[in-house]
Amino acid sequence: MEKLQAALEKARKTRTGQGAMVPARHQLQARPAETVPETDALWQALAPFEVDERRLIDHLVVTREAGAAATPFDILRTKVLLQMRQNGWKRLAITSPMPGSGKTTIACNLALGLGRQRDLRSILLDLDLRDPSVHRFFETEPPHGIGEVLTGAVPFARNALRYGDNVALSMARHPETDPTRLLLAEDTVDMLDAIEAAYKPDVMIFDLPSVLVNDDTRAFLKNADCALIVIRAEDTRFAQFDTCEREIAEHTNVLGVVLNAYRYGDSPREAN
Ligand SMILES: Nc1ncnc2c1ncn2[C@@H]1O[C@H](COP(=O)(O)OP(=O)(O)OP(=O)(O)O)[C@@H](O)[C@H]1O
Ligand SMILES: [Mg+2]
Repeated sequence: MEKLQAALEKARKTRTGQGAMVPARHQLQARPAETVPETDALWQALAPFEVDERRLIDHLVVTREAGAAATPFDILRTKVLLQMRQNGWKRLAITSPMPGSGKTTIACNLALGLGRQRDLRSILLDLDLRDPSVHRFFETEPPHGIGEVLTGAVPFARNALRYGDNVALSMARHPETDPTRLLLAEDTVDMLDAIEAAYKPDVMIFDLPSVLVNDDTRAFLKNADCALIVIRAEDTRFAQFDTCEREIAEHTNVLGVVLNAYRYGDSPREAN
């Protein structure tokens, strides 16, 4: 009986993330989760924007409403949320070994799917600064780009647009000229901390570039609590995935792998 108890205890500790990388800032500060009036006011002050449902569907963003098309993304959302909560993680990086695997499609679907969880607040940040595309998916140009927020030139409130009550999108207007510098900068670390402290999101999603094409994602990953790797069926090679996974694991926790565009299914599938 004692042995069984010990085994159960060990399994419970493993499940609650013991052994996972604990981001330094989690060790330093308790993170307030409750909603406070000042936070509500900040969210309400963000400029709202509307999206055209048909245009979204053209971009394969299908999670605005529940339904058959949204279901695989909703399952992914729920699994991601449960795992993040279990570990006390709030910052999710989405990346891939090589370009064009569906990172932004998945990031946008996750953001709108999270938006249907009325009790949660989520922020999607387009950190593919070399080739930003979230604004193209939503066919919306923010008044100022996310690059200006990261340098401190413009406050987050003048860049982020609010979708519904509880999703904020921090998008770019154009590519940045020196993205690696921005993604490595201590100012960026401070800015993300400040945004998180003020807006108290339950989830921050970072849409990042691919790992194997340049140093941008490597430079940034220390700011994420965990990462989702998107691979594309019949496109991503195992060696690419393997290298990418090892690189990511050096900097943050690998949350899982999404096998996208799987030909024999009817929607993106979770592989891990
Ligand atoms: N499951 C899917 N089935 C079919 N097409 C898809 C699927 N997922 C994404 N696509 C399409 O693949 C293209 C690339 O998708 P997306 O921009 O999301 O990839 P990405 O990994 O963000 O690319 P990049 O590396 O350039 O940022 C887009 O045209 C998108 O509509
Ligand atoms: Mg992309």
